[in-house]
Amino acid sequence: MHTDQSIRTRKTLKVRVDPQNPLPVTKGDEFKRTIEQLIELAGQAPFHYTSPEKQRSEKLSGAEPWRFHAIDGFNCRELLEALKDERPMKSSDGIKQMLAAADALILGTWLPERNRRPGRKFHPNVKNMEHIAATGAAIQNLLLAATDRGLNAYWSSGGCLRKPKVLDFLGIPKHEILLGAIFIFPADIPESAHTKTGKNADQRGELEDFMDWVKID
Ligand SMILES: Cc1cc2nc3c(=O)[nH]c(=O)nc-3n(C[C@H](O)[C@H](O)[C@H](O)COP(=O)(O)O)c2cc1C
Repeated sequence: MHTDQSIRTRKTLKVRVDPQNPLPVTKGDEFKRTIEQLIELAGQAPFHYTSPEKQRSEKLSGAEPWRFHAIDGFNCRELLEALKDERPMKSSDGIKQMLAAADALILGTWLPERNRRPGRKFHPNVKNMEHIAATGAAIQNLLLAATDRGLNAYWSSGGCLRKPKVLDFLGIPKHEILLGAIFIFPADIPESAHTKTGKNADQRGELEDFMDWVKID
């Protein structure tokens, strides 16, 4: 697909099913390779500053400011099961319904400059801003690559998945900050599923609404 076409074709699709009746997991190792391809393409995004060395782990020692943690369909259903005892919150219902439908969930995180005290906090400095920007660019790469492969995807803030105890449960290191929980849904959506497009999709204006030429007098 041509880049322009991928950009225009990419659209959020949220797929939800009853958490009591999750979709069967049908995707195997081949699909896992596809997810790896998406993340490898995500990793081609530009980045200005390398990740702070002290924030790198032995396992994920990359210089890139982002990290991606992939959860396959089987483990999405396991996570759903683990969240069943969670105190209900507004954002958890949708997340559970999507975990019941997803073929995969990819958690995109970024590594902030080191704080005096450990934890998922960051200073609003330029370096951190650029780490976030680079990670956002990586996630957009991933979404475009998913579009090219005919996969449905949704970039969520994560809702209940942002809770420290959920991130700990998933083994996400404490200093990583979640930027996107990207749900990957089946291309063929079963009849039992509810679908919804992105809430801001119709807020998109025309070029002149967000661009001007700077004139120097
Ligand atoms: C960083 C980030 C976090 C987002 N988190 C949410 C979210 O938690 N819930 C939601 O409904 N939309 C969220 N969105 C917006 C949707 O992913 C989607 O992009 C938007 O509704 C526009 O639709 P489109 O992707 O079809 O253009 C988020 C977008 C970004 C960039």
